[in-house]
Amino acid sequence: MALLDVKNLTKNFGGLTAVGDVSLELNEGELVGLIGPNGAGKTTLFNLLTGVYVPSEGTVTLDGTLINGKAPHKIASLGLSRTFQNIRLFKDMTVLENVLIGFANRHNAHILASIFRLPKYYQSEKELKQKAMDLLAIFDLANDANTLAKNLPYGQQRRLEIVRALATEPKILFLDEPAAGMNPQETAELTALIRKIKEEFGITIILIEHDMNLVMDVTERIYVLEYGRLIAHGTPDEIKANKRVIEAYLGGEA
Ligand SMILES: Nc1ncnc2c1ncn2[C@@H]1O[C@H](COP(=O)(O)OP(=O)(O)OP(=O)(O)O)[C@@H](O)[C@H]1O
Ligand SMILES: [Mg+2]
Repeated sequence: MALLDVKNLTKNFGGLTAVGDVSLELNEGELVGLIGPNGAGKTTLFNLLTGVYVPSEGTVTLDGTLINGKAPHKIASLGLSRTFQNIRLFKDMTVLENVLIGFANRHNAHILASIFRLPKYYQSEKELKQKAMDLLAIFDLANDANTLAKNLPYGQQRRLEIVRALATEPKILFLDEPAAGMNPQETAELTALIRKIKEEFGITIILIEHDMNLVMDVTERIYVLEYGRLIAHGTPDEIKANKRVIEAYLGGEA
């Protein structure tokens, strides 16, 4: 059984079908790509899977449990965690605090009390801080733990967003264009980081990305969307050679 099983998922906005009849699956431990021209429906699909939008039709099953229609926080607590196309950090909070918020999302509101230093929660606060620091160390951000998020260089802000998503200990990590706006050096570091998450944490990852080198480099399978419809699915080599995919991209550039 697939970890995430998506069947006939559709989202209409008025007359526009942003996502139409999409079926796909993610198996445990896989790293899967989701590509397609601008406006193809990639982010909308993420929004459907993570509960931001309620599907017009179709089902989403996580580990045998139907999750379509559930609220985003509920879906997050079941193990789906994401980053956003436009970075969403608490910019006036420190790097460490941003990761602690990630823990709070997964666990419960009491953890917020611990962050704000209520004595009763002191022990768990200490533990959580240690856990957050460990995560930051793995991703080379420990030296910046007390830096305000807004003062980090762009590439590190993107990395912090991923660390925060990981703090929820997700079963599946959804990355929406993590390399957007990165320079080649930052993109290379990101590629290594994505590999590390897969190999060291064994987390299932679905990656939306316009940087084809990155997608072809790290993913095992790729789904291609165009105008809300799945037009292809295969290994990176199959997708590179797929006429329908090449047309979709050339058409988009013409
Ligand atoms: N809330 C909304 N209301 C109306 N239309 C929407 C809404 N969200 C997305 N759309 C439309 O749905 C289509 C798919 O948008 P989406 O953002 O999912 O594309 P995308 O593949 O993520 O594109 P990009 O690569 O540019 O990020 C677009 O035509 C978009 O304008
Ligand atoms: Mg998008």
